[in-house]
Amino acid sequence: MKFRFALNVLHAVILACVLWPFSAVAETTYVGTAACKDCHEEQYENFTKFAKKAHSQKSIQIMASDLTEAELAECYGCHTTGYGKPGGFVSYEKTPHLADAGCEVCHGPGSDHVESGGDAGLIKGTLSMEDCESCHNQSRVKAFNFKPLLYGGAH
Ligand code: HEC
Ligand code: HEC
Ligand code: HEC
Ligand code: HEC
Repeated sequence: MKFRFALNVLHAVILACVLWPFSAVAETTYVGTAACKDCHEEQYENFTKFAKKAHSQKSIQIMASDLTEAELAECYGCHTTGYGKPGGFVSYEKTPHLADAGCEVCHGPGSDHVESGGDAGLIKGTLSMEDCESCHNQSRVKAFNFKPLLYGGAH
């Protein structure tokens, strides 16, 4: 009995060691734009007032009644925060804080940065046009004749 117990503990310890690196990586998740407000008031005010991203769920909702679930799911990839990614948007009911395309679509998931109290090394601060192209992709740029500049649409 004692031996079995010791073996179980050993197993648990080994398992924890093996899984630890993965759990550490998986911890960085999306927290939503409101979580940035207190420390970045200026960016927050500008973004929520002027960027269409901050209200991008409205663009979906005005068309939702004409769309199937599968079509709606396609919209989420660009009009919400982190859809299809770990800790990202799931549904308006379950993840209302990620319903719009927020700060983290450009700066990446912010949980580590927020929990650290603002460690600049834990958030993407330098951006390039590649960070926009998952949504502002070639075919959109052509179809809408609109290619954003790096410093547009943010704050
Ligand atoms: C690949 C990314 C992407 C997908 C997928 C996508 N959108 Fe968009 N949407 C954008 C971008 C970016 C804009 C801003 C205009 C532009 O640059 O094309 C936009 C603009 C819009 C607008 C216009 C808003 C305005 O102010 O005129 C509406 C409405 C809209 N999208 C609805 C939808 C719906 C509904 C779906 C799903 C069927 C969808 N979008 C899927 C990226 C996307
Ligand atoms: C507890 C306060 C705090 C919160 C919450 C916070 N930040 Fe920060 N953030 C800081 C501090 C402090 C810095 C470093 C000083 C500076 O440059 O403003 C910083 C720096 C940054 C930078 C620049 C990084 C660089 O490389 O220079 C970005 C981008 C950023 N934050 C985005 C965000 C986003 C997005 C959120 C919300 C998900 C957020 N922050 C939430 C405190 C915070
Ligand atoms: C459309 C993309 C985009 C969104 C959305 C966005 N940012 Fe930024 N952010 C940028 C760019 C571009 C820079 C400049 C980065 C560089 O110089 O390479 C930047 C820089 C910053 C910085 C560094 C200081 C400064 O102002 O240059 C902070 C802090 C920051 N962003 C916070 C936020 C917060 C908080 C939000 C949401 C309220 C947000 N950002 C939303 C694109 C974005
Ligand atoms: C997750 C997808 C996504 C990413 C990444 C993204 N955008 Fe957007 N962006 C959108 C959507 C969606 C809209 C349209 C919102 C609406 O009207 O409903 C938009 C709108 C805009 C607009 C229109 C004007 C306005 O006031 O919002 C600009 C400019 C823009 N984005 C710039 C950028 C830049 C620059 C980057 C990269 C640094 C970027 N975006 C990254 C999804 C994205």
